[in-house]
Amino acid sequence: MSFLNSPFAIVAIFMPLFFIHSHGIIIRVQNNCPYTIWPAALPGGGRRLDSGQTWVLGYPSTKVAKIWARTNCTFDSSGRGRCLTGDCGGQLECKDYGAAPVTLVEYGLNSFAGKDYYDISLMKGFNLPVQFTPTSNGCTKSIRCAADITGQCPSQLKTPGGCHNPCTVFKTYQYCCGYGRCLPTNFSRFFKVRCRDAFTYPEDDPTSTFTCPAGTSYRVVFCP
Ligand SMILES: *[C@@H]1O[C@H](CO)[C@@H](O)[C@H](O)[C@H]1NC(C)=O
Ligand SMILES: *[C@@H]1O[C@H](CO)[C@@H](O)[C@H](O)[C@H]1NC(C)=O
Repeated sequence: MSFLNSPFAIVAIFMPLFFIHSHGIIIRVQNNCPYTIWPAALPGGGRRLDSGQTWVLGYPSTKVAKIWARTNCTFDSSGRGRCLTGDCGGQLECKDYGAAPVTLVEYGLNSFAGKDYYDISLMKGFNLPVQFTPTSNGCTKSIRCAADITGQCPSQLKTPGGCHNPCTVFKTYQYCCGYGRCLPTNFSRFFKVRCRDAFTYPEDDPTSTFTCPAGTSYRVVFCP
């Protein structure tokens, strides 16, 4: 089960009360794709990001958050519109999670045991390649999912602009695993073979959750 959907997440939400630290944490979101994307963060909002641009998210205190990118969007001058993937209810500045499929970067900053937890999750599918890299504190474990998952997507999971997680399509216990034990499936192996750092089924924690000391800054690169 993904860290942020697990019982730890409850701890992560309450721990900050006891581990407040005052350093600003910086997350730089970089668009390395040769086209415009519309990244979003919850909390954090969302914006248009042209090729080569960087969006600096500053978190003054602890946050549990998710970052994803939206593709093929059109918005009007009041910030309403829609996107082919990752759309958050038609808002430019997201107040809700994006529609599947989205490649998710998830983190709990300064959460359980005073550490930052982070992962790349394919539990809502895949729309863009991404890399998440610690940039301070001597923490060096960069994680990435940069394979051509959309291009190689099994036909049952294919959707315009991305590749669905099998839970989204089939909604069965085998793929969604709401409770109890669950195992990799042939579909989750399709993702894991291509992105070994990523969460590919609900109990994929041992190979997919990473930590840094609290207070580390990070860079998210789309199309690394
Ligand atoms: C989405 O945008 C990309 C990059 O601009 C483009 O190559 C692709 O054709 C677009 N897809 C759709 C369905 O509009
Ligand atoms: C997984 O198994 C199902 C059912 O046997 C099959 O339809 C599907 O094509 C398989 N997918 C992959 C990626 O092998």
